Amino acid sequence: MSLLITNIKQLIQVHEHNTTIIKGSDMKNLPIIENAYLYIENDTIIEFGEMNNCEGFDAETIIDATGKIVLPTWCDSHTHTVYAGDRTSEFVDRINGLSYAEIAQKGGGILNSAKTLQNTSEDELFEQSLKRLNELIAMGTGAVEIKSGYGLTVEAELKMLRVIKRLKQESLAKIIPTLLAAHAIPEEFKSKKQDYINYITDELIPKAAELNITNFVDVFCEEGYFDINDTEAILKAGQTFNLQPKLHVNQFNILGGIALGVKYNALSVDHLEEINDNDIEALKGSNTIAVALPGCSYFLSIPYTQARKIIDAGLPLAIATDYNPGSSPSGNMNFIVSAACVKLKLTPEEAINAATVNGAYAMGISNMYGSITRGKKANIIITKPMNHYSEIPYAFAHNPIEQVIINGQQV
Ligand code: NIG
Ligand code: FE
Repeated sequence: MSLLITNIKQLIQVHEHNTTIIKGSDMKNLPIIENAYLYIENDTIIEFGEMNNCEGFDAETIIDATGKIVLPTWCDSHTHTVYAGDRTSEFVDRINGLSYAEIAQKGGGILNSAKTLQNTSEDELFEQSLKRLNELIAMGTGAVEIKSGYGLTVEAELKMLRVIKRLKQESLAKIIPTLLAAHAIPEEFKSKKQDYINYITDELIPKAAELNITNFVDVFCEEGYFDINDTEAILKAGQTFNLQPKLHVNQFNILGGIALGVKYNALSVDHLEEINDNDIEALKGSNTIAVALPGCSYFLSIPYTQARKIIDAGLPLAIATDYNPGSSPSGNMNFIVSAACVKLKLTPEEAINAATVNGAYAMGISNMYGSITRGKKANIIITKPMNHYSEIPYAFAHNPIEQVIINGQQV
């Protein structure tokens, strides 16, 4: 199978040499070829260049992209796309003035979603999740991390991970599963949190590792959820089974989760709506990437991550949707790229870097995803006609996408 895309107005995020992370001031650069072509064979990017050098390709399919932008698909490194039902009633509670914490105290929040998920069959959970996944692919996402964390029992967490595995088998998108058993303290462990932590470290993590169903472990390190000692115990257990951390930290309170994540070689530390100078220092010189989730700040009306502080300190930043029923019920990366510009004060170039190469880095897949590079996977967005790629974040909440190609296949 071969595909040639011709007359591309701007081919974005083009790298001659494989680029796996973009840091600090380099995030301002977004390499482009104007009036370009892109040639794909099977699922792989083979060649690209200026249109006047487009010769000698005998492609089975030709797409004329006159007036359109072509870029790598979005890499959404933090989602909870597998969940059951919704939390629209809590949405109304919050409009009427209740906070996220108050709703959780009333038995809402994560425990509410866990109850629903436990009572949903595996097939039904798969169907609900597949529908969401297909929607986010249509919005330009070609690689996505999906967490467990609405099961909170061995049985239900493994059900989630099996559903993620099935999505992985049935979808064209690249899917990265993460075990997030430490998402909330289940009702039955309310007065014996340590027992739940032991349950995670002694039963759940070994079982998930035995099934070889994930390479990552996550903890919601937050007041009222898992403190820094709880988090460390879980990361230690994960380390024994080669599970690398990707953490929920600093959403409402700074507990020291960033430095702890760096100590345990976390691939990413996510949320960071609250961040201080110690956190920034901890990230310097590490392999851990910061991930901002502006959809969560928008939906919960909480502070936005001070992304400028992070980038201006020379650090890399990724952005992701946090798609989940409680704090960010949208998997639209186009909106996230726009919110990163408007609210996090990223330039369009920085936001696109954060949503492509750096998003792929935050899933451990940037050697194969996130840029237009020979040999990388052919995961491509073709936009509607537009004059400049800046229109993607500028025209917020519009759909900029005309066509999505994943693994070389038009979806
Ligand atoms: O990333 N903060 C923790 N976890 C999710 C929200 C979970 C929920 O409310 O269902 C998040 O925001
Ligand atoms: Fe999350």
